[in-house]
Amino acid sequence: MPVDMDPAHHDSGGETPDARVPSGHTPPLSQIPWYRDTKSWPFFIVFCLAALLFLALEIAYQYYVLLPGIVTISLLRGAALAGTTLISASLFSSAIFKWWPKTAIHWRIRRYLGVAGASWITLHVISAVLWQFNGNIPAVFYIFNPIKNPIIYGVAAFVIYVIMMLTSTDWAMRLLGRHWKTIHRFVYFAFASSILHFLFTAPQNLLNPAGYLLLLVTGLAVTGQLYWFMRTVAPKRFATPGTLVGFLIIVYFVSMLVLSSIHKRQVDRAFENASRSETQLMQ
Ligand code: HEM
Repeated sequence: MPVDMDPAHHDSGGETPDARVPSGHTPPLSQIPWYRDTKSWPFFIVFCLAALLFLALEIAYQYYVLLPGIVTISLLRGAALAGTTLISASLFSSAIFKWWPKTAIHWRIRRYLGVAGASWITLHVISAVLWQFNGNIPAVFYIFNPIKNPIIYGVAAFVIYVIMMLTSTDWAMRLLGRHWKTIHRFVYFAFASSILHFLFTAPQNLLNPAGYLLLLVTGLAVTGQLYWFMRTVAPKRFATPGTLVGFLIIVYFVSMLVLSSIHKRQVDRAFENASRSETQLMQ
């Protein structure tokens, strides 16, 4: 999840990797009727419909297979899985554009995936506050320590995703100038926090095809980001400011992963001991 490994950031100065594409190159997808270029309305509409269909399928899977008849939690979990999978896909697309520079002409897809993902996460957060916390926002913050309350990882990530969503337009890019890139680099911290959030909030709910898809796409995104981070900073002998930030995010992620795992094991063990004593008392 580190910083500075984005093809757009390094090679073409901003979110315009089109500069990487050899002149005269015609994207093969332009043969498809609704596709002219990723900036066109037909493409945008088809993308929105696909993102909506993905959300509907994730919710339907929860509603009809995992939680039959429970609308509220199906919406909460379906939106969480759809949103996080799309955000991971967005980050993985950065690595794809760098591995195969000709595909960078489709760079706008990365932004669309990110915005669609953040929108579905907004639905997840609203459903969680309404139905998991009964509209009681202070209850979300019953304890601020993310190791004991992994929802805090989610809150930190959500704040960043909202800022990124609000500044994702071409207009905001022009207005913010070089600050735009700085703001959008926070995505790597948000992504690390999202992973910690879903790994420790309800990991047992990820043991099904929808959860495996999320874990697969997230694994690909992390691998791609780490690979390009190392490929970018190693030739510069780790002497760029982005290197430090990148390593800080890796240290944050690994240390919180270890601390949260230790805490989870302690809680699980205490729970096992408590239920064992209860069974012995009843005998
Ligand atoms: C204010 C912020 C957030 C709150 C209050 C929140 C709340 C919750 C709650 C209560 C659960 C457990 C649901 C259950 O299974 O019973 C959950 C799970 C989850 N959250 Fe969040 N969340 C927040 C932000 C995020 C963010 C930013 C992401 C990712 C980008 C995310 C992704 C997930 C995922 C993937 C799950 C696992 C879904 C499952 O249980 O199947 N959440 N969240």
